[in-house]
Order: sequence, then C-alpha cells, then structure tokens
Amino acid sequence: MRSEQSTTPRPEDRFSFGLWTVGWTGVDPFGLATRPALDPWEYAGRLAQLGAWGITFHDNDVFPFDADEATKRARLARLKAAADAAGLVVEMVTTNTFSHPVFKDGGLTSNDRSVRRFGLRKVLGAVDIAIEMGATTFVMWGGREGAEYDGSKDLHSAFERYKEGVDTVAAYIKSTGADLRIALEPKPNEPRGDIFLPTVGHALALIAELDHGDIVGLNPEVGHEQMANLNYTHQLAQALWSGKLFHIDLNGQRGTKYDQDLVFGHGDLLSAFFTVDLLENGFAGNPDAPRYTGPRHFDYKPSRTEHLAGVWASAEANMATYRLLAQKARAFRADPRVTEAISYAGLFTLAEPTLGAGETLESFRAADDGFDPEVAGQRDFGFVRLNQLAIEHLIG
Ligand code: GCO
Ligand code: MN
Ligand code: MN
Repeated sequence: MRSEQSTTPRPEDRFSFGLWTVGWTGVDPFGLATRPALDPWEYAGRLAQLGAWGITFHDNDVFPFDADEATKRARLARLKAAADAAGLVVEMVTTNTFSHPVFKDGGLTSNDRSVRRFGLRKVLGAVDIAIEMGATTFVMWGGREGAEYDGSKDLHSAFERYKEGVDTVAAYIKSTGADLRIALEPKPNEPRGDIFLPTVGHALALIAELDHGDIVGLNPEVGHEQMANLNYTHQLAQALWSGKLFHIDLNGQRGTKYDQDLVFGHGDLLSAFFTVDLLENGFAGNPDAPRYTGPRHFDYKPSRTEHLAGVWASAEANMATYRLLAQKARAFRADPRVTEAISYAGLFTLAEPTLGAGETLESFRAADDGFDPEVAGQRDFGFVRLNQLAIEHLIG
C-alpha cells in the first residue's frame, strides 16, 4: 500500500490532463516546435502510466479541423479504446473555436453571422462527442470571443449572442438527457486584447441571465484569474458559494503577464497552498458549506525548453505538488496551534448571522448591545500569526 505521504498519484485523487497540455510541441508566436507531436492515444497511454485518472480534449486535439466523418469516427474510436484499455476516464470535452482563421473574430460572437452559425454547429458537434465519450463536463472557453478595438463591436449584441450561444448549447444538452454540464472558462485577455467574460465574476453574471443557467457553471483557471490580478482561491470560493464550481484548470502563473501555464505550484506557491486547502478541506469554520467534488484537472504547458522526458517529468510534477500541498494543508488544519489561532482570529464566529433569529429591523436598530467602538477598535485579530503558521507548514 502506498503511504499517505507519497507523491505518487492515486485514482481517488482524480488527476486529469488536457491532451493539449502534454501535447503542446512548443510552438509560440516567436518560435517553432521544440519537440515532436505524438498521437492522442500515445499521450493518453503515457498519462495513465504516470498515474493520471482522466483525460480531456478539444475536438481538434483528436482529429484535424477539416477531417471527414470517417476519419473523425476512426480517431475518436481509437482514443476511446486506448483510454478504456488504460482505465482512463474522459471526464471533459471542449471545442476548438480559436485556431482556424475563420474564428479570428470569435465563434459565438463574431460580427459575421455565417461564422456564428458555423461556430455554434461545431460546438454542438463537440457536445455529441462529449456524450459519446461519457464526459460529465463540457467546457466553453471563448478565447476568441472579444476584441482589440472598442469601436469594433456592438457590445450589447455581443452579450446577447453569447447568451444565445450558451443557452442553445445548454438546451440541446438537456434535450439529450445526458449527465453533462457546461463550465464556462473566464480569461481576461490573450489571444484577444480583451476577452468577454474576463473573470469568474463576469461569467457568474452572464449565467444569471441565461434561460438554462441551471446546468451552466464555471471552470476557473489559476493563471487566468491571476492575469487579472485576482485571488484564485477567492474566485473558487465565490463560485462554490454560488453552487457553480463545476470544474477547475490548475496551473502556475507569476504575476500579471502573458498566460504562462506553468506547473501547478510553480507560480504563487502560497496561493496554491490555500487553493488546495479549500479544495481538500473546504471552508474552515463552515463544514456544511458546498465542497468541490470534481476532478483535479491540470491545464499547463511543459516549457518549450523541455524535450519529451521533460514533458513527462512536468506532468508528474503537477500531481506530486498537488499531493504535497494536500498533505501540508491537512497537517495545517490538524495543528492545535492553528485551531487556536483561527479561534483567536474570530473566524469561527463569521458563520453566525449578524441579525438574531426573528429579530425585527425595528428592534435591531433600537437594541443596545452595550457595544463600545473604542474597545472593539483595540481588538487584535492575529491574522499575521495565523499566516505564519501556514508558511511554517508550507516550508517546514
Ligand atoms: C488557454 C485556455 C485553454 C482552455 C481550453 C479548454 O488559455 O488557452 O486555458 O487551454 O482551457 O481551450 O477550453
Ligand atoms: Mn490558459
Ligand atoms: Mn484553461
């Protein structure tokens, strides 16, 4: 039996990888590929050997954009057979509506209606693939839905068309009866200068306007929220609170620069620690609050300095780092000094409603709590000591 301390992945960790992650050959805007491309089933087989539980893919990670029906069927069948043989789950499927020139102004929100009709058909086709593969999440990352120039879009209509597109896909999924939910993936920029749904909050606001929003949630990515200078753990928390955390894209990012897609933990390590703490331990002081129950999905890129050995080493690094952080987060929560510091910080009393049960606004406003702002203003919360305990667990 593998020890609890081991960094070796286990099926119950439910680690999954996009085929496009290990499959990235290193092509970037400045340079050519630095390593060869393998077939999708080869990546799948190798990921299974490393201990991954699942895989995910875009339609065009498996077959080319212009593939005929027979080629699509053959390649999908070959991948599914390889996944089944390796015991891998295809947990999520998504659509590529960003690579081909036709999508230069977006798939669902292009100014060109004929492109929107083509894009929506392509997304619906990918839903069929998701259902066929037994996936339970369908990610919609609208990388090309956006603009470089504020005058180039009727932004009101762009939101209408985004809603129309997502609602059409959601209604179709419902009509099939499949156990499949949509997860929108926010990103502030890259490849467009400004992408629609730049953050978790924006995506939640769009979902609230949908007719079929009940099966639409989120797939927040570490780097994307950090590119917007936001706190990833807070974004996950609000998505959880809204009952909308359907899926996650874990990776690493260092600051507000281009989308780095580093290995998980290779960016802001302390943030990664608290992300894992939330995912593994839930909300401290609120055991009944919603928990994340989906896969631990990595959306990273092995740096183009690495050849194939480095690709596999980096895939393993994601899982090992997650497991190490999970062990440290569990030890953090189990430490009596942490419990004491959390209690001193008043964290456990935040769960208590501010108004009393049955208290009327009138009696509340008239009540004398004997409160002295001068005394309360002298309170010490001990947040720094609590944070130092986290640091000590993290690096100790
Ligand atoms: C990116 C995105 C993508 C999406 C993927 C799934 O920045 O390129 O993170 O990798 O996650 O297209 O929809
Ligand atoms: Mn990304
Ligand atoms: Mn992603």
